[in-house]
Amino acid sequence: MSFVRIIGTGSSVPDRVLSNSDFEKMVDTSDEWIRERTGILERRIADPDVASSDMGYEASVKALETASIDPLDIDGIIVGTVTPDYLFPSTSCLIQRLLGAKNAFAFDVLAGCSGFIYALQAGKGIIESGDAENILVIGAETLTRITDYSDRSTCILFGDGAGAALISKSDSPGVLSVYIGANGDEWDTIIQPSGGSRLPASEETVKKGLHYLKMKGNDVFKEGVKGLEYASLEAIKKADVTTDQIELFIPHQANFRIMDAVRKRLNLSPEKLFVNIDKYGNTSSASVPIALDEAVRSGRVKKDDHILFAVIGAGFTWASAVIRW
Ligand code: ACO
Repeated sequence: MSFVRIIGTGSSVPDRVLSNSDFEKMVDTSDEWIRERTGILERRIADPDVASSDMGYEASVKALETASIDPLDIDGIIVGTVTPDYLFPSTSCLIQRLLGAKNAFAFDVLAGCSGFIYALQAGKGIIESGDAENILVIGAETLTRITDYSDRSTCILFGDGAGAALISKSDSPGVLSVYIGANGDEWDTIIQPSGGSRLPASEETVKKGLHYLKMKGNDVFKEGVKGLEYASLEAIKKADVTTDQIELFIPHQANFRIMDAVRKRLNLSPEKLFVNIDKYGNTSSASVPIALDEAVRSGRVKKDDHILFAVIGAGFTWASAVIRW
């Protein structure tokens, strides 16, 4: 049986910064409230002419550079996103075109914030089946396009960006386990109500702001802590390692309080928790691959280190993975 390894990573975030103090001028909030309740200090906002595929493309170019892989040698592109450029064609097809990756199949995965790890699971399975050798797995989001800047309970949370990982067939195991799951009973906890076949976009839906992301933040918070702990333990068990062997924990950067509560439940020391939510806020599917790329590039990850990913998102979905670097 062949194994799968991550052989290159890349990320891309817009230059434009929206700080907590900017929000003080927009809604009834304060820098102090946002810092204390979420851990976010600032987030990045894409320029009007930039969409998810543009950032996904830039992240992919960097991942291919670090892996020294030519775009023509990519067999597949899988993008996790809740903010595709268009509902169709897929954002992965747009990235394929930008890269000139003519030999790659391309499809998107819609799994809320868990999209990147769902995509990783799909890519891993395709490589293990023998049907592909190199697959680009991407998380790319332009969440600020569906953010309601008059709703103080959501607008302070989200930012834009993309991260990519090139996964390849290998003789030794790298992606030790991936665990994915869902609970559709919670379908309306995080939702973009209009724009789909249930409620197509109309003058009325736009007037009512139904094209914006809606979230029951408290429900997500409670389920998030439990779900992230559960998913983490499942991936650790499936990888046949112990929690003590985890050198770096990269949870979904959704809220520092959630991330730290899960870290404590897993008995991991504070220095094992990777945090960049302060700089980018919640970037949904892009959150884990951006964090991974930063961890790798800053030297925080060493050969043979075990890295734990864990995410919860709209659906509800949850997803986790253990990687040996
Ligand atoms: N500034 C000031 N006050 C605020 C703000 C704000 N930006 N937002 C809410 N408040 C107020 C509320 O109105 C409420 O006031 P009240 O008591 O007078 O009614 C008070 O603060 C407390 O509100 P809570 O919702 O209980 O605040 P909480 O501490 O739970 O924080 C938050 C809210 C940050 C949204 C939190 O619930 C959270 O992070 N939830 C998880 C979000 C998440 O992880 N999402 C991931 C998935 S997203 C995706 O998939 C795209």
